[in-house]
Amino acid sequence: MNVKIINDKFVEKFGASGEMFTSPGRINLIGEHTDYNGGFVFPGAIDKAMVAEIRLNDTDKVRAYAVDLDDYAEFGLREEDAPTASWARYIFGVCREIQKRGGKIGGFDTAFAGDVPLGAGMSSSAALESTFANALNELFSLGIDRFELARIGQSTEHNYCGVKCGIMDQFASVFGKAGHLMRLDCRSMEFEYFPFDPEKHGYKVVLLDSVVKHELVGSPYNDRRASCERVATVLGQEFLRGATMEQLDAVKDKISEEDYKRARYVIGEEQRVMDVCEALKRDDYETVGARMYETHWGMSLDYEVSCEELDFLATVAKECGVAGSRIMGGGFGGCTINLVKTELYDNFIATVKAKFAERYGHEPKVYSVVISDGARRM
Ligand code: GLA
Repeated sequence: MNVKIINDKFVEKFGASGEMFTSPGRINLIGEHTDYNGGFVFPGAIDKAMVAEIRLNDTDKVRAYAVDLDDYAEFGLREEDAPTASWARYIFGVCREIQKRGGKIGGFDTAFAGDVPLGAGMSSSAALESTFANALNELFSLGIDRFELARIGQSTEHNYCGVKCGIMDQFASVFGKAGHLMRLDCRSMEFEYFPFDPEKHGYKVVLLDSVVKHELVGSPYNDRRASCERVATVLGQEFLRGATMEQLDAVKDKISEEDYKRARYVIGEEQRVMDVCEALKRDDYETVGARMYETHWGMSLDYEVSCEELDFLATVAKECGVAGSRIMGGGFGGCTINLVKTELYDNFIATVKAKFAERYGHEPKVYSVVISDGARRM
């Protein structure tokens, strides 16, 4: 991330320097669409992040400059001041959610930019929310705890961006720790750090971006959540978490075929997260990979959040002997996450690029990631 560009722009717009804050995007090894079902997720923060320079301006206005978009917005802090630009609504939403929790904040100037690819399933929006939630918490000495910072980002999505997301992305962006994944129980909110160093065991993690636009706002993401909630209600539970296939089969006549398939995926995914955590303790990366493929096809066939390009990427990965490959994040485009034996890596990348280009007219983008720390002042 070129912090100097942000600072140059900030000084140009606002006259003097401010303070720098950053929050990362995330990967998720396994546990997809489980968070809003009260289940487990297994994400880690990455070395791609949002960076914002901020200075309090003693007014009741926010003056914000999006460096990457070369766009500027100015807005107040009352509900009726909501800006129209979608990027600005994330910042406004964070401000409002802080205020709703009793946090006293005032105006500020900011310029921000990031290198989390947009719409790739790496949570660029959570990175943006966490950057501002953490920064405002520090700059206004609000004393908000870190879980609440994550919830502020999540509520921003719900109330200002139209996505009824779970807590995974904001949690990972706030709590990330270099070299570690985190298994979060989204019902109890207990979590555990797991050391994650695949390279030590001869594997690499690589993301392949189909470059199919991934946009959860207005996507069927909320419909998936609604399906799960309907089934949970029929089962007499708050969440799908903990439901068994036997229980699901017992209510099959009372739910639609579509809802049945959605719930079948979620129930399977809960077990896969557990299997992967156990396998990692034994450094058994082949089992980790096998579960990743199962997740991919569950997300594709039962949850129906994949697309042709992502199915193609997972299929080519399998043909190349890659240990695990699956769609990552909310779906409807974006990336696959791949766990590849180091000696197969070069051949896999060359093959998948060539085959994808032959079929779709362009190569997938290749991202390698380093598991990194969460929200912080720079
Ligand atoms: C998006 C949401 C998360 C989670 C994932 C799917 O990234 O923001 O809360 O539901 O999709 O696992």
